[in-house]
Amino acid sequence: MLNLAEKPKRPLVAASVLASDYGAMAADAGDALSAGADLLHVDIMDGHFVGNLSMGPDTAKCLRRHLPEAYLDVHLMVDRPDLFIEPFAEAGANHVTFHLEVCDPVRSRHLDAGAMIDRIEAAGMTAGMVINPLTAAEGLEPWLDRLALVLVMSVHPGAGGQAFKPEVLAKVEWLAARLRDDQRLQMDGGVSPATASACAAAGCDVMVCGSALFGANDRAAAIAAMHSAGG
Ligand code: DX5
Ligand code: ZN
Repeated sequence: MLNLAEKPKRPLVAASVLASDYGAMAADAGDALSAGADLLHVDIMDGHFVGNLSMGPDTAKCLRRHLPEAYLDVHLMVDRPDLFIEPFAEAGANHVTFHLEVCDPVRSRHLDAGAMIDRIEAAGMTAGMVINPLTAAEGLEPWLDRLALVLVMSVHPGAGGQAFKPEVLAKVEWLAARLRDDQRLQMDGGVSPATASACAAAGCDVMVCGSALFGANDRAAAIAAMHSAGG
C-alpha cells in the first residue's frame, strides 16, 4: 500500500474515478492502476457545496472490495464533511481531504478544521485540506503542519474535463515552500501530460487526473508522461 508520507522520486498519478465508466468502475479503475496510476482519487459531490452529484461511501466500499490493494484518496466536495468521516473509514478509504471553504466562520454552519483533522486521524485515515481557485492559500496556515496532503484546485470544483487554471500555480509555490518532505502537494483539475510539467515545477507531487487519463487512447503513455513531469 502506498505511503503518502514517503517523498516520491517522481510525481504520483492519482486516477480520478469521476471520469471512469460508472457502470464498470472497479474494472476501469483497476485498468488505470495496471496502466501505472499510483492511487485512486474519489470525488464526492453533494449537490450543495457543488451543483453536481457523484458518489458516496458505498462506492468506495465497492472499490475497496474489488481492488483490495488500491490506495483510496477521498475528496469531499460537500457542505457537511463531518457527516462522512466514519462512513468513509468504514468503507476502506485511506485518506480524506475536506475544503477550507466549509470552515469559513462567516458560514452559518462552519466546521472546526482542527476537530475534523482529529476525527479523520482517530478513524485511522490521513487528513488533507483543499482550497478552491479563488481561495487564498494563507487561510490554510493554522493547520498546515498537521496535514498529510494539501490540495490546490486548478478548476472550480464540480465537474471533470475543465481547462487548467495556471493562475493557481503561485499558490502551489507558496505552499511548496512551507511543506515538509513527509507532506504531499496535490493538484486537481485539468491536469494532463500537457499541464503536469508546470504543476511539478511549482512543487506539486501528486497529479489528480480524470479525463486526460480515462479518456486517453493509451493510458499507460499518458501516466508515464505525467510520471516524468518535472524530471
Ligand atoms: C473536479 C474534481 C476532479 C476531476 C478532475 O471537481 O475534483 O477530481 O475529476 O477531472 P479532470 O482531470 O477531467 O479535470
Ligand atoms: Zn477531486
